[in-house]
Amino acid sequence: MRLTLDDVAREARSRLDPALWDFFEGGAGEERTLRANVEAFDRLWLLPRVLSGVTCPETATTILGRRWDAPVGIAPVAYQTLAHPLGELATVQGAAAAAVLPVVISTFAGRDLDELAAARGGPLWLQVYCLRDRSMTRGLIERAQQAGFEALVLTVDAPHLGRGCVTCATTSGFRRTSFRRTLPGTTSRCRRHMPGRSSLRASTGR
Ligand SMILES: Cc1cc2nc3c(=O)[nH]c(=O)nc-3n(C[C@H](O)[C@H](O)[C@H](O)COP(=O)(O)O)c2cc1C
Repeated sequence: MRLTLDDVAREARSRLDPALWDFFEGGAGEERTLRANVEAFDRLWLLPRVLSGVTCPETATTILGRRWDAPVGIAPVAYQTLAHPLGELATVQGAAAAAVLPVVISTFAGRDLDELAAARGGPLWLQVYCLRDRSMTRGLIERAQQAGFEALVLTVDAPHLGRGCVTCATTSGFRRTSFRRTLPGTTSRCRRHMPGRSSLRASTGR
């Protein structure tokens, strides 16, 4: 039975190609930041509010003018179709079945923004890398807006990729992946000018 995140991770590991497992679960370099993040998360405890009534426990909150079931969102994770053909489609459907939470779709999603918005049945947010080609960034945002995405989540910490990520991004699994769903032209541009480099690196890195 799957009870904890570790259980889910173990099962995922048994099903995924090792290079893809490294991408999804590994960190950069010696993974010091990854370890520090896990330790920091482990130090967080729930704060019980006793004697406050338990008939209707309430975790809902309001973010950007909309009511959500809990003050957490689903973080953007690129390249989800590498793990499963349904990719982000499964993520938005699974999230919708569980609760009303913000789901952030990566710039490098493997599924169409339109189909994700239709499948979700609720608002989605778009994570945006400010690409060197500003017209590509603008096009992505406009398509998201037309599809009904409600908010942008700007990622500003990826001018360079960590070593682990670059290594994974050059494996054969990544080279087979198409990002034309969200960024038309990206894959071919990346292949033509920077063979063996990931789309993210080609578009944001130096
Ligand atoms: C496999 C993987 C892919 C990710 N892809 C993106 C992405 O496309 N855009 C982004 O802004 N952040 C991306 N992130 C960062 C996550 O959204 C998140 O901020 C980060 O993993 C920290 O949260 P965590 O400690 O819960 O893993 C990715 C993280 C992982 C592990």
